[in-house]
Amino acid sequence: MINKIHSLGGYIHEYQKSIANPQAFWGQQAECFYWHKRWDRVLEWDFASPSIKWYVNGKLNLTENIFERNLYTHGDQEAIIWEPNDPNEETRTLTYSELFKEVNKFANTLRRLGVHKGDRVAIYMPMLPELAIALLACARIGAIHSVIFAGFSAHALSERMNDATAKVLLTADGGYRGSKVTPLKEIADEALESSPSVETVVVLKRTNSEVDMRVGRDIWWHKAIDGQSEECCAEEMDAEDELFILYTSGSTGKPKGIVHTTGGYMVYSAYTFNNVFQYHAGDVYFCTADIGWITGHSYIVYGPLLNGAKTLMFEGVPTWPDAGRFWDIVDKYKVNQFYTAPTALRSLLAMGNEYLEGKDLSSLKVLGTVGEPINEEAWHWYHDHIGKNKCPIVDTWWQTETGGVMISPIAGVTPTKPSFATLPLPGIQPIIVDNEGKELTGNSVEGNLCIKFPWPGMARTLWGDHQRFHDTYFSTFLNRYFTGDGVKRDEDGYYRILGRVDDVINVSGHRLGTAEIENAINEHPLVNESAVVGYPHPIKGQGIYAFVVCGELSTGGEEGIRKSIMQGVTKIIGPIARPDLVQLVPGLPKTRSGKIMRRILRKVAEGDASNLGDITTLLDEDVVDKIIDGALLEVKR
Ligand code: PRX
Repeated sequence: MINKIHSLGGYIHEYQKSIANPQAFWGQQAECFYWHKRWDRVLEWDFASPSIKWYVNGKLNLTENIFERNLYTHGDQEAIIWEPNDPNEETRTLTYSELFKEVNKFANTLRRLGVHKGDRVAIYMPMLPELAIALLACARIGAIHSVIFAGFSAHALSERMNDATAKVLLTADGGYRGSKVTPLKEIADEALESSPSVETVVVLKRTNSEVDMRVGRDIWWHKAIDGQSEECCAEEMDAEDELFILYTSGSTGKPKGIVHTTGGYMVYSAYTFNNVFQYHAGDVYFCTADIGWITGHSYIVYGPLLNGAKTLMFEGVPTWPDAGRFWDIVDKYKVNQFYTAPTALRSLLAMGNEYLEGKDLSSLKVLGTVGEPINEEAWHWYHDHIGKNKCPIVDTWWQTETGGVMISPIAGVTPTKPSFATLPLPGIQPIIVDNEGKELTGNSVEGNLCIKFPWPGMARTLWGDHQRFHDTYFSTFLNRYFTGDGVKRDEDGYYRILGRVDDVINVSGHRLGTAEIENAINEHPLVNESAVVGYPHPIKGQGIYAFVVCGELSTGGEEGIRKSIMQGVTKIIGPIARPDLVQLVPGLPKTRSGKIMRRILRKVAEGDASNLGDITTLLDEDVVDKIIDGALLEVKR
């Protein structure tokens, strides 16, 4: 059994233990899992290289810890409860025994298709139980899965498959989200034209749309699994063998393939799920994320299933058929723990409380948020109207790189404070440093958030680019993992995340690199250069503001160019990266050495150009006046 914390005193005790002797602490947390061979040492680490190894030489298979370890006790219990996009369609549930059989069948299918331990399997699928089955089947045979969010474009999909040199792609004919149908296979076909490593494509039927099936490459899912055995011997994995790659945005254009490994990720996702959400046997847990992101990996699939939990997967969107959909689902399945993003709460709040009428939310015990700072208004609405003043809110701070929650209340244990992620979980040692790397000790300080000691769930490298892993996370501040976030520690020692301090923006809880968007804009034939910054947006948290320099205007005039730039970004990355505002400008504010002064653009985008600070290093000050004159948000001079 995972150690569960029940009281504030218990938390303090566990935390102190975990800091005094991390190896003993994390060794103990790993004891309850089934290992083929126990580890020789709990941890070997060095942040300078960096090299991080947990449960050194331990051998295991993660899926045995979901299935074989638990089947005797809850084989007949629901593992996945699936709610379709259309509320009138039948729901599906899979018990642990049923899920196990499906995972084995698909694992055997992958083996028959020539997938071996260490091969990369790209997954571009809608939120269906088969998506979870695909992840677990890969883990069963030791293949490394790489899920690419099904909202990404063909170009983005291809780029990620190429980086991982994926051998197989798993996709579907199409996907439903609200009233929209996304032609996934068609997009995949376009991506595959420039992804030569992919030898086989397995296609799940969902929308029954007409699709092209290329002979010798494409195979239907239902045909592929037909006749496969429901038993599959699990591949023995080293604790440090890769479990998955998940791409995320960074401050340069190329997406980063975050690598997570087997043993440490298993222990960390299971431990954090159990404690943060205070899951108890029989509870129904609903995380609204998509498995295309880390939240779905750790807290729809791995964390819950490793705990024998009932995890609810939802195919659709919060606003379809109407803005009461989440609450219908909570009512229908009597959800106990509900985990979502602040952006969803803000958009539902804006639509009014009539969508809550008649919905029984009394089953809720714990509410969670993730992905971006939650503003006080949304926090209070969540607390009062959804939680009816009785459910603790866990504002969970973490990242794709951290694998699991890092700073967060433990539900019902840690006293909460609106917009504060509160305190670090056991084993997590955050520190705040100034820009020179000096640690700011004590309370009431603000600076860069770093972590000074490893934890089992942390990323080990970037796929194929260890140097970039070092440079991005371990070189800014010596011997520290740098998160890229700004943070404040208040007078009570509580942490409040202030947002990114690098060129990454957070739009509706999605993390986007400004350079990635600029690269996409610069592909437009009439664009000379561009600069993208974030600006405060009432629903999305941050909106995307693009300043663009064009050579000449086409026949469509300014409006035509703006539109085609937005369409171009949608095509190259996906709709999530589409700029909200595109301002055509005569030039960008640059220093004499040619560096764009983003600080100035950020101020303009925020509608606050009254205090631009020192602009004497600018090459051409006039350009700033022209940008302010044409600004798309109200600018105070
Ligand atoms: O800026 C922080 C923000 O999201 C970033 C991580 O994004 P991603 O890797 O996509 O993972 C999102 C889901 C774990 C962080 O660097 N962030 C995440 N959670 C919070 C947050 N900002 C404030 N409060 C949070 N609870």
